[in-house]
Amino acid sequence: MKNALELNNISKSYQDGEGENNILNNISLEVKPGEFVAIVGPSGSGKSTFLSISGALLSPSDGSVMVGGTELGKKNKKKLVKIRREKIGFIFQSHHLLPFLTAKEQLTLVQKMNKNNGKSDLRAEDMLADLGLAECADKFPAKMSGGEKQRVAIARAFMNDPDIILADEPTASLDGARGRQVVELIKKEVKKHQKAAIMVTHDERVLDLVDVIYRLENAGLKKVVNQ
Ligand SMILES: Nc1ncnc2c1ncn2[C@@H]1O[C@H](COP(=O)(O)OP(=O)(O)O)[C@@H](O)[C@H]1O
Ligand SMILES: [Mg+2]
Repeated sequence: MKNALELNNISKSYQDGEGENNILNNISLEVKPGEFVAIVGPSGSGKSTFLSISGALLSPSDGSVMVGGTELGKKNKKKLVKIRREKIGFIFQSHHLLPFLTAKEQLTLVQKMNKNNGKSDLRAEDMLADLGLAECADKFPAKMSGGEKQRVAIARAFMNDPDIILADEPTASLDGARGRQVVELIKKEVKKHQKAAIMVTHDERVLDLVDVIYRLENAGLKKVVNQ
């Protein structure tokens, strides 16, 4: 099967006072459609940096990234924005919802800005229902619980029918039970729509839900479990 995401020999260094600070060193990873991957590792080990490179938010110092068969390195900024909008869904540590929009409007905002509002209302209603949020459709974030807001953020990430879903510590702001529920929903959507997903997490209690676990440490990536 074709890979949804392919990172080949990725390295990333930052310049600091003394010289080069090598955060990622020659890392490769392939993720197939329908595959749910977790990346664990100590704080500061480069997990968010790795996710940003996978999602075309940051360029690697070396190596290549392929998203849905498209190589990112050859694209200009405008094309990268288009790739992010069409092929990638992000879920962050905190939900990043806009306070003045209802749940449904959070999902349809981007489509409406692109003047493609015909089908987006229906899709938003479907996504909300699928994540158990039908009753939240017309609510503002201030009236939702933490778990509900994070589920709206998941629905939003799937709205553009992306090839890959990238989640950076999506359970960090939730208690154990709600955190698990959120990851179960990510898994359900990943399997149902055959998306490739990478989740960075500290949360050991949700690791049984993923297909493969990698550990990022000392600038390298190692497969620890294939379940
Ligand atoms: N823009 C940047 N400039 C310089 N150093 C950075 C930058 N972004 C991240 N770093 C450094 O890279 C390392 C990895 O950061 P990060 O990817 O956020 O780790 P993690 O998500 O695993 O906690 C840290 O030491 C951090 O200070
Ligand atoms: Mg991080």
